[in-house]
Amino acid sequence: MAQKINFRVNGVRRTVEIEGWEKLIDVLREKLELTGTKRGCEDLTCGTCVVVVDGVAKRSCSLAATKLENTEVLTIEGLSSGGNLHPIQKALIDAGAVQCGYCTPGIVMELYALFTKNPNASEEEIIESLSHHLCRCTGYEAIMEGAKLAQSYLKTAKPS
Ligand code: FES
Ligand code: FES
Repeated sequence: MAQKINFRVNGVRRTVEIEGWEKLIDVLREKLELTGTKRGCEDLTCGTCVVVVDGVAKRSCSLAATKLENTEVLTIEGLSSGGNLHPIQKALIDAGAVQCGYCTPGIVMELYALFTKNPNASEEEIIESLSHHLCRCTGYEAIMEGAKLAQSYLKTAKPS
């Protein structure tokens, strides 16, 4: 049965009519046209659908849309400002960690949640967060380098 939910996406209040079976990724991509969040396995394996919900990295392919009432959702579209890439996006590019880029939005959002909560996350904590993500083309060494570079960029970034 259809129902309405109210939540915030990238800082904007939204009211969306949803069906009971829909997941967050369906709402983002099909109803709000935020297609930066990618569909992959849809069974919790690849991490390409990760967005940040109330400060926590979540797999949008498994989060029921009915649970979204009053939440704050951040997607890859909400990260860059004024046409400038977010430091995490820039770091992954600088480290050569982006090839086809399909996995990249999920990795960026995972790292965003990690470094927002813990700017001094250890190498083990970064590895643990990246272990939830699959990449078919880049190789995980470059992604790890990009993550560490992102951590240093974030520490030197000027507030905008
Ligand atoms: S599409 Fe959600 S984990 Fe793969
Ligand atoms: S860059 Fe292609 S899947 Fe990761």
